[in-house]
Amino acid sequence: MNLLLVDLFVQQYKLCKLTSTEKVAVISEYGEKTEYVEAAVVAARSLGAAALVLTASSLSNPLLPPYKSDGREVAALLSAAGECDLIIDVTVGGLIHSDVRTQIIGKGKRMLFVAEPTEVLGRLIGTEDLKNRVSASAAFLRNGSRMHVTSQAGTDLVLDISGESLPITCQWGYVDEPARWDHWPSGFIACFPQDKSAQGTIVLQAGDVFIPWQRYVSDDVIITVKDGYITNIDGNGHDARLLSDYFAQWHDPEVYALSHMGWGLHPLASWSALNVYDPRSLYGQELRSVAGNFMWSTGSNRFAQRETPAHLDIPMRDCTICIDETVVVRQGKLEEKIYG
Ligand SMILES: [Fe+2]
Repeated sequence: MNLLLVDLFVQQYKLCKLTSTEKVAVISEYGEKTEYVEAAVVAARSLGAAALVLTASSLSNPLLPPYKSDGREVAALLSAAGECDLIIDVTVGGLIHSDVRTQIIGKGKRMLFVAEPTEVLGRLIGTEDLKNRVSASAAFLRNGSRMHVTSQAGTDLVLDISGESLPITCQWGYVDEPARWDHWPSGFIACFPQDKSAQGTIVLQAGDVFIPWQRYVSDDVIITVKDGYITNIDGNGHDARLLSDYFAQWHDPEVYALSHMGWGLHPLASWSALNVYDPRSLYGQELRSVAGNFMWSTGSNRFAQRETPAHLDIPMRDCTICIDETVVVRQGKLEEKIYG
């Protein structure tokens, strides 16, 4: 048994305010991540809580087409999870963009996805201070009407974030409130701008990151965005060609849509993670959370009824992000004075 992982789950459950009268459901896939299942159960029992393991034969989506969804076990899984208070998702891909997540938290349950290696879970576990920074960032988005992202490399992207019902994702890495979902570890803010509102250009540079490819961008890619969709991908290096190939092979116009947009806030998250660790052992949370990154994504948007397994998260360096007149990130660094 991984005793360090058990200790970390105990620490995490305390952040999640798990009580001895509550029930934990661990959603897993047959034969996968058994160490996490074991640690989640043992830690729950050590705090006096009940623990139920729900194992589906398979729930993960493929990273490349063809995509065939098999949801036959989902209804039974949802029914059992609905009897529990805290749902720990240790499936391989995570039920992040799926209807399962929406239905579980819709019933007021807390749901936490766990995927990173033990060391990353421990080093980046959430704190009250991180939660406060993420919450302060959410207020900027909630009160804002326009996000403008620029960079010296040529990025110039405008998004409509107006409206009281703007979906905002606050991720500080634990679930301490009812109907809350999070991913341990996390430290970023994101929103889903008004669908089809994005306009402009995104210029990727060496050192930016492709997730879930888990590698750094190696050469410039110039991406044109019109009415919320990528309409052109240009560049002299091989990354532009690879990105074009990747989108084309899904034969689905929705994979070109822009999805969530936001910025990283975790003071301990490092751009070096993909070099320090085996990249394929990571889920990418560290890169998503680097303080001052601009993270944008493609494809899935459950608020626009768009569910596709073709979903890229792309954290970028050196961008400036403005919400209306307020600079929240300046050239890749948090504008510290506004976070309190
Ligand atoms: Fe994403």
